[in-house]
Amino acid sequence: MSLKDQLIADRLPSHVAIIMDGNGRWAKKRGNSRVFGHKHGVTAVRDVTEASAELGIKYLTLYAFSTENWSRPKTEVDALMSLLVSTISSETKTLMKNNVRLNAIGCRENLPSGVQKRLEECILKTSGNDGLTLTLALSYSSRWEIIEAVKKVAVQVKDGELELGEINDELFSSLMATESMPDPELMIRTSGEHRISNFLLWQLAYSELYFSDVLWPDFRKEDYYEAILNYQGRERRFGKTGDQIKK
Ligand code: IPE
Ligand code: IPE
Ligand code: MG
Repeated sequence: MSLKDQLIADRLPSHVAIIMDGNGRWAKKRGNSRVFGHKHGVTAVRDVTEASAELGIKYLTLYAFSTENWSRPKTEVDALMSLLVSTISSETKTLMKNNVRLNAIGCRENLPSGVQKRLEECILKTSGNDGLTLTLALSYSSRWEIIEAVKKVAVQVKDGELELGEINDELFSSLMATESMPDPELMIRTSGEHRISNFLLWQLAYSELYFSDVLWPDFRKEDYYEAILNYQGRERRFGKTGDQIKK
C-alpha cells in the first residue's frame, strides 16, 4: 500500500507548518551557489502545496524568510527577493487552478516594494479561493509577532477598552498574525536541524514536531505523507493521561 493510501482521512491535520531548511547545503553538495538551492526549493514548495490541496488540508504555513535572514549576504537576500517575485508571478495560475488562497505573515513593510506589490496582487487574485490557505511567513519572526500583539493589548488597556482580566489565551491568539487559523497540529522542519528558529512560538505550544533529514529541495510528496503518517501514529494528550484520551 502506498504511503498516501495509509493516511487516515479523518485524522489529517488541519494546519501544517513547515520550516523549509537546507537549500544552501543542498547546493553546496553539488558545488553550486546557495541561490541555486533556493531556486530548486521552489519545486518542493509546489509539491507540498499540491499534496496539501489534494489531501484537503485547510492551512499550510511555510517559513520562507525570517527576520534574522536579513543578516545574510546582500547578494543572497537580493536573489531570494527576486526569486519571490518571479515565483509568485509564475505560480499564481497554479494556485487558482488548485483553489488555493495565498496569505502572508510577517513585517511586510520591510520587503522590497516589488515583492510587496506581487504579493498583494496574488493575495487579492486568490482571495475568493476556499480550498487550501497557503501562508508564507516572510520577514517573519515570532518574537516580533508577539511584541506586536503585546503593544496592541497595552494600547487597548491604556485606552480603557480592555480590562486586565479579559486578557486570556483566546484574546492573545486573536491578536496574532495567524488569527483566523487553528494552531498547527503538525510542524515539520527539514535538513536535520532540531530547532524552532523564531517560528510560531505561541502557536506551536501543543504541535507535534517532526524533523526530517531530507534537505528542502529534495522534499517530495512521499516525504510529506511520511511526516503526516508519523503524526497520525502519535497520541496527543494535552496534559491528560493516556487512559483519559482513550475513553
Ligand atoms: C532555507 O535554507 C531557506 C531560507 C532560510 C531562506 P537555508 O538557506 O537556510 O539552507 P542551509 O540551512 O544553509 O542549508
Ligand atoms: C529558518 O531557517 C528560517 C527559514 C527557513 C526561512 P534558518 O536556516 O535561517 O535557521 P537557523 O539560522 O539555522 O536557525
Ligand atoms: Mg538554514
